[in-house]
Amino acid sequence: MKLTDLKINGMIEPIGYDFTDLRVAWKVVDVQGKKQSNVCIELSDNVDFSKVLTSIKGNDLSQTGTVISYDLLPMTRYYVRVSVTDDLENTANAQTFFETAKDEIWTGQWVTGNEGKNTHIVLQKSFYLDDKVSKARLYISGLGLFETSLNGDKIGDEVLAPYYSRYPDEVQYLTFDVTDALKAKDNVLEIALGNGWYKGRFGLNGQKENFGSEFKAIAELHLTYENDEKAIIATDKTWSYHLSQTQLSDIYDGEEIDFNIDDSGLKPVKVTSQEGKLIPRYSLPVREQEALKVKEVIQTPAGEVVLDFGQNFAGYVAVKSKQPKGTHVLLEFGEILQDGNFCHDNYRSARSEFAFVSDGQERLVKPRFTYFGFRYVRVTGWVGELNSSDFVGIALYSDMKITGSIETGHKGVNQLFSNTLWGQKSNFIDFPTDCPQRDERLGWTGDAQVFSGTASYNMDTAAFYNKFLHDLRTEQVKYDGILPGVIPVFEPERVIFSSVWGDLATILPTVLMEHYGDSVVLSHYYPMMKDWVDKITKEDKKRGQRYLYDFGNQLGDWLALDGRTSQSMEGGTDTYFIGSCYYAMSVKMTADAAKILGNDSDCAYYNDLYEKIRSAILAEYFSASGRLVFDTQTAYIVALHTGIYRNHERLVTDLKTRLYKDCYRLTGGFVGAPLMCRVFAENGLIDEAFYFLTQPEFPGWMHCVDLGATTIWERWNSVLDNGKLSGKMMNSLNHYAYGAVVEFLYRNVAGLKAAQAGFKSIDFAPQLSAKLQRVQVTFDSPYGIYQSSWEILATGEVTVSLDVPFNASAEVHLPYYSGERIGKVTSGHYEWQYQPTKEVRSKFNRNSIVKDWLKDSRAKEIIKKESPLLDYYLMTGNEDFLYENLETLPNKDYMGFTKEEVTRLEKGILSIFEEML
Ligand code: BGC
Repeated sequence: MKLTDLKINGMIEPIGYDFTDLRVAWKVVDVQGKKQSNVCIELSDNVDFSKVLTSIKGNDLSQTGTVISYDLLPMTRYYVRVSVTDDLENTANAQTFFETAKDEIWTGQWVTGNEGKNTHIVLQKSFYLDDKVSKARLYISGLGLFETSLNGDKIGDEVLAPYYSRYPDEVQYLTFDVTDALKAKDNVLEIALGNGWYKGRFGLNGQKENFGSEFKAIAELHLTYENDEKAIIATDKTWSYHLSQTQLSDIYDGEEIDFNIDDSGLKPVKVTSQEGKLIPRYSLPVREQEALKVKEVIQTPAGEVVLDFGQNFAGYVAVKSKQPKGTHVLLEFGEILQDGNFCHDNYRSARSEFAFVSDGQERLVKPRFTYFGFRYVRVTGWVGELNSSDFVGIALYSDMKITGSIETGHKGVNQLFSNTLWGQKSNFIDFPTDCPQRDERLGWTGDAQVFSGTASYNMDTAAFYNKFLHDLRTEQVKYDGILPGVIPVFEPERVIFSSVWGDLATILPTVLMEHYGDSVVLSHYYPMMKDWVDKITKEDKKRGQRYLYDFGNQLGDWLALDGRTSQSMEGGTDTYFIGSCYYAMSVKMTADAAKILGNDSDCAYYNDLYEKIRSAILAEYFSASGRLVFDTQTAYIVALHTGIYRNHERLVTDLKTRLYKDCYRLTGGFVGAPLMCRVFAENGLIDEAFYFLTQPEFPGWMHCVDLGATTIWERWNSVLDNGKLSGKMMNSLNHYAYGAVVEFLYRNVAGLKAAQAGFKSIDFAPQLSAKLQRVQVTFDSPYGIYQSSWEILATGEVTVSLDVPFNASAEVHLPYYSGERIGKVTSGHYEWQYQPTKEVRSKFNRNSIVKDWLKDSRAKEIIKKESPLLDYYLMTGNEDFLYENLETLPNKDYMGFTKEEVTRLEKGILSIFEEML
């Protein structure tokens, strides 16, 4: 028996965070028992627990976050020990630590240089240590971005600190343990500064200096000597600065370094100030997480040298350079080749370049204050032979454990999962962005909303999203409850007030509660949920309260294909219908949160409001007999997802008719598509769900995969079949929104759907399809690893397996299973093999459309032989019958099929289905 993953506020051994509401979480593995029978949590300020400051005992302490109430001191390392006894009386324990940040009073002052605002500087302090230091902590921040070093060595391994904040309100500072980096006697502490989000170009208009125009930093180095004496070396007017070799740094434009610049001359700093309050960090570290090799060095038709990393990602390239002195090397970043040549026209105004001038010395060169989204790199100016191993792609992203893995018998689906994961890595750099490459990279809330469920299966997002929630709330309170469509908000008078985007306010806390079971987070952000729905209610009341969110400019089913033109942004589904349904859902989520938090009066109020909104939607948008007045795929999907309809059967039938009318081409944008397969699976349309997941033609997930995508595209037609970008204006190849379909694989296909918060129990109802043939999914939940797999065997039998972690359970509903009821199973490994009640081996069945059969060459032969008319239609390119199936084809009298012909055809086709078995 072993305890693992001891987490403090969702993080492993965190230092320098805000620990108000201290929580501890743990997992138990390699255990014989099934359940936790006793837990003891102790807090100490020394590693051997000789003095316990407080302890809690109980048999039902929450593994997903038990609150420890204790008045923590600043600048102190605390240790937490957790002992768990299982139901067989085995006990195990483990301990972890965390360290608090500084007290609120700073002796350090903000200091800056005396150069123009575009001249990069490095702040410096030399100091002498007489005595041996037993403990040293550096509390530090720098704007826009900082990188600090002691005696020439970088402190820590974080990139892009102090990360994004609403700087005029608050600036995060970091805490580093620098005990081992100090030398005896002479030491030099340096702080290099870059522009970053604070003063570089950032925002939809590509404007500069959004939050300030001065490079500056603040620091306090707290020393404890071996004789217990203490000293502080703090930024003040005794510091110096020198010029930086960094000549340019910008999130959008890139970075330039000239190693020939003489940066030795020291000048005195100037004391300055900063409006935003210094706060302990919320941001997770962004680190260099993965190294990617060059897959191919390409000589393009235009005569360029282009490195292909084989994968679209975000980060930069580290270059081993021994270039002759004065050589100017330029790296430019792009996502796609056009006509075989380098292209980054879709980056719009973002220059995305990294340039350096060599001083002739051998060194590893990489940027410090920027990142790029790319797969290809054009190298110009390189002298001599270019050795691909001298270039290494470095993927940056926030420190999050990967918690999900998916493998199926379908190569394309496996690639889709990989693309989605890379989309997440590329866009989870401190806060969730829409894309990592063009002059945008902003916190679009709609994108974050649709992807949050998938993201939280893929990775442990709890602490990452907690930071984002903090940023969102900082903005929301300024706009009377509006959760903005994008943060940061640069033009308060033009704040985007839209459903689906703003509904992140309710959906994200709900997703986090479902995934991580941490009610403290829910209680922190409950006001955010309330304020959002209350704002809509308030606006609705202004015009007499109709209980609908049918006003204002809403973004709707963004980029859906049923819009007016192929590049339209607003899709064909009524935005006010979407808005009203999401309003209802958000109000319901607020009621549910109130219930969890024990706020009965709020719960009653929001439940009542929900009923009123629901009735108003039914009255406004549904006929008396249940017809939805908007006949679009997304409208049906939204109604089913939010559970708002008069008659379920009617809605599903109408949706099927819509799919038929749309020739089984998906039309959904950011609202409809992410939910499509999941909603289909949960409403009896499982064949359709698998059809849309795997169908290869445009538009669809496999279409992008087949065209070589290694991340998720912003648009279904981002790249055309001829390899050309469909447009350059708004066309990213690394936008994760449509990757949200992966949630369908975890929840519905693998059956890992949380029934109780934090996956304390799951509703295990996997769904099968011969199109995937087998599936193996693992998900490392807050309770430990769930593993689900199934396979359709050649014999027609099905195997299903499930691992349930310690202290958790699963309610099992096997697919097409007629054996004895299984019901609830507890922690352990389970395997079942049985004959399903339905033939599941064939990829096609009676409901499959003709177009689907035609993927089988024998089907074509049977058509030729048995149905001259169908064959004739095929030859003439008449597509009408392609979307019929064996149930509907015989009824299409008007197409001129004879009864005999259809019967023969049917027999032939059915025989193929049988043959496939
Ligand atoms: C972003 C989207 C975003 C949208 C909304 C775009 O520019 O890239 O992903 O949600 O704007 O307006």
